[in-house]
Amino acid sequence: MAAYYPDELINEVISANNLVDVVGSYVKLKRSGNRYMGLCPFHSEKTPSFHVSADKQLYHCFGCGEGGSVVQFVMKMENLDFVEAIKQLAARANINLPEGNEKASDGEYFRKKQKMLEMYVTAARFYHSCLMAEGGKTALAYLAARQIDRGTITHFGMGYSPNEYDALYNHLKEKGFDEGLMLESGLIRKSEKNGKPYDFFRDRVMIPIFDIRGNVIAFGGRTMVKSDGRKYMNSSDSMIFNKSKTLYALNFAKKNCSERIILVEGYMDVISLHKYGFTNAVAGLGTAFTPEHAKILSRYTKELVICYDSDEAGQAAVMRALPILSATDLKLKVMVIPDAKDADEYLKLKGAAKFKALVDGAKNHILYKIDRLKQQYDIDDTEQKIEFVTKAAEIFAEVKNEIEREAYVKETSLETGISEEAIQTEINRCIYKTETAGNKNFSTYKKSAESRQSEADFRAQAALLSLMCSDITVWRYVRSETDLSFFDDSPLKVIASDIYSHSADERPPDFSVAVSKTEDPAVNRLCGVVATQQEVENPLKAAEQIVEKLKDEKRKKLIAEAAAEGDPKKLAEMIKNLKK
Ligand code: CTP
Ligand code: MN
Repeated sequence: MAAYYPDELINEVISANNLVDVVGSYVKLKRSGNRYMGLCPFHSEKTPSFHVSADKQLYHCFGCGEGGSVVQFVMKMENLDFVEAIKQLAARANINLPEGNEKASDGEYFRKKQKMLEMYVTAARFYHSCLMAEGGKTALAYLAARQIDRGTITHFGMGYSPNEYDALYNHLKEKGFDEGLMLESGLIRKSEKNGKPYDFFRDRVMIPIFDIRGNVIAFGGRTMVKSDGRKYMNSSDSMIFNKSKTLYALNFAKKNCSERIILVEGYMDVISLHKYGFTNAVAGLGTAFTPEHAKILSRYTKELVICYDSDEAGQAAVMRALPILSATDLKLKVMVIPDAKDADEYLKLKGAAKFKALVDGAKNHILYKIDRLKQQYDIDDTEQKIEFVTKAAEIFAEVKNEIEREAYVKETSLETGISEEAIQTEINRCIYKTETAGNKNFSTYKKSAESRQSEADFRAQAALLSLMCSDITVWRYVRSETDLSFFDDSPLKVIASDIYSHSADERPPDFSVAVSKTEDPAVNRLCGVVATQQEVENPLKAAEQIVEKLKDEKRKKLIAEAAAEGDPKKLAEMIKNLKK
């Protein structure tokens, strides 16, 4: 964990931020007693399964399993790391965090990251001022020719990188940036020939890439020359930029995208779409669409309309993105642009209203795939028809909703003359085939039987930890009767060690504070157990029962081990202990 503030200060920051208020600023919560329910911000849903416990200061979603304290909530919501989340929560509660109080390594990393962000925004301002200066005339004319107006230029922070070897280098130097950091940023490179530093981007229209909070973290640079080898040059990944987790313009789109996001291929498509009022458009960054992209999108919206370039390359990219997106519960649609190569060109040709109609009429992904398939076959030819329907059945097998599936089957049957029963049988065969692939279900079943016991142990241990935090008497009791070896699950051990090391005064430790300090994803499961735990009337008695149970389990385990080792002396000793 990367904490460089003293523990007491972190605790203060956490306690000063009521989880209900923090969550409430993102999610509409409905109160029932001391619990609050709302629509989960981490996956899209129609009925609330997101649960916030005011007592315990923990949240948990029954639907997607996410859970944690106020710190994990802010980290996930805003894509922050632990220290950044603490900073944000401190600011929210008007608590001053000391500077320069950090553990050397974490603090250094954090400062470096801040410097890097500062360098990028300095570069963005520089490029923008170059676009507006005398030397930017050609670039400005280029943008005007593309119908990009001044307002759009300002909104997206667009700029121009001068056609010189060291314009940005000199500017950054003047501003006091360290040369090592410049080279690490990728904005400046070192010549292999003469060892001199030079600007990576030259004579290009510059498009800053923002993170979700609006920090500049990278650039895309477009050439203005038709014959130039590379149309776009992009920043490579750095300590502040990860292509596979970034979506262009999501910082703008996030304000208006809870119902729908339009995913396009290019920067220019996004810029055009926003200009025409479609402020819910985002794009990947020219590389493959990743599961991280899918997960981020599913956090922000319910429905995704994919609107890639209309050429075969674009459509093939849609087919690659769809299976990745199927893993989320996003409603997926695909729109194919007629009479233009991409959204940008279409908008200029036909305008916003026509585009809006296309978005609203976008087909769901299953029908899109069927349409694409159909184009490959001649249905009037019997052999080709059989192949088409067989492949179509494979696609229909992905549909979970039976009513939806039946509708497709009916339609296909009408169209091809092949009976609904035959198509349905083929679909069932496909479903069976995927279900039994690699005997997956059987092994899952076996595994779940094995893990049932450990699940019970996990729940008991989690409950014990939360009881320790409800009352100092319980804490003292459990502390004297047990030790950390009672916790066999690693995230529980981490949290337990925090709770055990509480200095015994009048107040028990804070469970949600302890939870805040682990980044282990198992914390989701833990919060699920604890946040939904029933209130007990006598916490001490409950703790005693759990301690007895855990002691029992431990003895049994030791005996089983001794028996497996075949050591009769050790075994006899154990059994003697058991009787005590
Ligand atoms: N891209 C890239 N490098 C290239 C070409 C494309 O990184 N040499 C990426 C860019 O992110 C670009 C996206 O792929 O935005 C889509 O490519 P393309 O359709 O060619 O770009 P457009 O946005 O249509 O660009 P323009 O309108 O300026 O031609
Ligand atoms: Mn394009």
